[in-house]
Amino acid sequence: MKALVLSGGAGTRLRPFSYSMPKQLIPVAGKPVLEHVLGNIRQVGVDEVGIVVGDGGPAIAEAIGDGDRFGLRVTYLPQDQPLGLAHCVRLARDFLGDEEFVMYLGDNMLPDGIRDVAADFRRRRPAAHVVLQKVTDPRAFGVAELDTTGRVRRVVEKPQQPRSDLALIGVYFFTAAIHQAVAAVRPSARGELEITDAIQWLVSHDFEVRASEYAGYWKDAGQLEDVLDCNRRLLGELRGEVAGEVDADSRLTGQVVICPGARVVRSRIDGPAIIGDGTLVEDSRIGPGTAIGSHCVLRNTRLADSIVLDGATIAGTPGLHGSLVGRSAVVAPGGDRSYHRLVVGDHTRVEIAD
Ligand code: DAU
Repeated sequence: MKALVLSGGAGTRLRPFSYSMPKQLIPVAGKPVLEHVLGNIRQVGVDEVGIVVGDGGPAIAEAIGDGDRFGLRVTYLPQDQPLGLAHCVRLARDFLGDEEFVMYLGDNMLPDGIRDVAADFRRRRPAAHVVLQKVTDPRAFGVAELDTTGRVRRVVEKPQQPRSDLALIGVYFFTAAIHQAVAAVRPSARGELEITDAIQWLVSHDFEVRASEYAGYWKDAGQLEDVLDCNRRLLGELRGEVAGEVDADSRLTGQVVICPGARVVRSRIDGPAIIGDGTLVEDSRIGPGTAIGSHCVLRNTRLADSIVLDGATIAGTPGLHGSLVGRSAVVAPGGDRSYHRLVVGDHTRVEIAD
């Protein structure tokens, strides 16, 4: 079995981050989303992966390399424009050959892994096997209707009036039959070649399409709240380890990882939390639920339930919560304390406390 990981796309809901880095590289619990994805793929015994990339291709190639680090062989498949998930299958035709494959959306987080669903697919080897979870608002997802035997009867992409609450998770198993289907579909109203339309084509042409309901935790890391939720969840599984320096005036509680070269001075860190390598935390209180990247500086700051990317500086900021701070960003007092001064990029969100 091969894997096809989709890491192109525009990432509009994660602006401004997606302007400067692909959303699949946003770190969750200290590791890019895409690394979590590749880990799950390796766990089901797949070692050949094609990664579809768009404009963020060079950054993804730099982060992932040839896949050797993950026990994988990675081939990059450039996509000029985000023309849809079925378009990705079309452009991967030569890479995939006639082998069965798992298609995995590069922004989907499933920390409990995909072993059970891979086993479900391997047991029956239907033309397609989709993975579903009940959601409260299915209108933001592909939605499936099943018969009593678990066979898929209908799939619709982001329906206004959903006929079930079963959303399609971004993990799909396919045999070579999908190539006929993706060749047959036409662009949807939003101009994309939809994988849901290709799956529906299989259903309508009497191919067997089955489904498993996923019991584990799942988030599509396309939105800030979901990224933070996932960060909290994964940090919760952390085992504390201090490789950096913690001075005698500092206190760590709960599971805290202090990476090599990090320094904690006169501060308190409440786990679960990660302090990245080379980062300085001074006169601050950090955590819980916080992951700080590499080479950051945090001074006189209180910060919880947040993600801070590499090289950021946060100083004199007493009450940050639920925040995502970008690479080399600076949050600090200015010279004149009588007003706030912001240099805020496009589509940035700043929420001010009363
Ligand atoms: O997260 C699950 C949902 O993912 C499913 O329920 C939907 O049926 C499915 O269409 C998809 O919906 P999204 O609107 O969330 O898809 P998005 O545009 O975010 O793309 C998903 C991933 O695929 C993301 O990592 C970007 C990548 N992608 C997307 C497009 C449209 C590509 O690589 N190329 C593309 O052309």
